[in-house]
Amino acid sequence: MAGIIAPMRRLHPHPTDAIGVREAYAVERPRPPARPWLGLCMVASLDGSTVIDHRSSGLSSPTDTEVLLTLRSLADVLIVGAGTVRAERYGPPSKPGQRVGVVTRSGAVDVDVALFTSGRGFLILPEDVPAPAVPCVRAGIGVVDLAAALAQLDADFVQAEGGAALNAALAQADVIDELNLTISPQLAGGDGPRLTRGAPPLVREMQLAHICEQDGFLFTRYLRHRG
Ligand SMILES: NC(=O)c1ccc[n+]([C@@H]2O[C@H](COP(=O)([O-])OP(=O)(O)OC[C@H]3O[C@@H](n4cnc5c(N)ncnc54)[C@H](OP(=O)(O)O)[C@@H]3O)[C@@H](O)[C@H]2O)c1
Repeated sequence: MAGIIAPMRRLHPHPTDAIGVREAYAVERPRPPARPWLGLCMVASLDGSTVIDHRSSGLSSPTDTEVLLTLRSLADVLIVGAGTVRAERYGPPSKPGQRVGVVTRSGAVDVDVALFTSGRGFLILPEDVPAPAVPCVRAGIGVVDLAAALAQLDADFVQAEGGAALNAALAQADVIDELNLTISPQLAGGDGPRLTRGAPPLVREMQLAHICEQDGFLFTRYLRHRG
């Protein structure tokens, strides 16, 4: 698929007319001391919505899909909120050995789907929720302590794939090391969630690492600036 994707233009840093997705995204991700590096990958409209008709696909493009797939191929583990798994199709990952952790407070996740029956899915849930019949990582009481859950993962690079409520919890826990945000050139209207939903007011400074463009889509990459 990579061969048929038109190259992006890199606008920052070092403007260049043609850069491939892998070249732009296969970069060093140093593992913090206590947990894996966490990158968040999302697409949003110009007016900040992360959904059209309750799904992200209407915001995406072939190059955006390539960004998602490339980052998946670089990640050791993927994590995703239970709400996204309920809204979107999440099958077993194509990368051999990769696993997908579904973050849930309630444990009310359908585990009779291919993601779990394949043995590639696991739940990330609080310690006080009854044990489901699938592998799980437990941390926190009432809600998942995300930093502690991440520390239990056998991974150097974990990719988080939304949605807004999980992103909010990750921002609150200050574990987002990298944000790969595609800006889709459309207004979505509606009241769909923005990148985070339900976080308390907070300030997490991010530093621009790159902006690329293709077909009006902006492919941005930000790194957490920890001063
Ligand atoms: N544009 C994009 O790139 C993109 C990416 C992903 C998703 N989306 C869209 O976003 C929408 C879903 O977003 P959402 O905000 O409704 O759902 P979400 O963030 O995917 O999932 C929310 C659920 O995750 C669990 N959760 C979140 N934080 C938790 C914590 N700290 N501890 C324990 N559990 C926690 C809870 O699960 P329980 O309810 O099981 O307790 C919560 O209800 C969908 O429409 C999807 O299409 C868009």
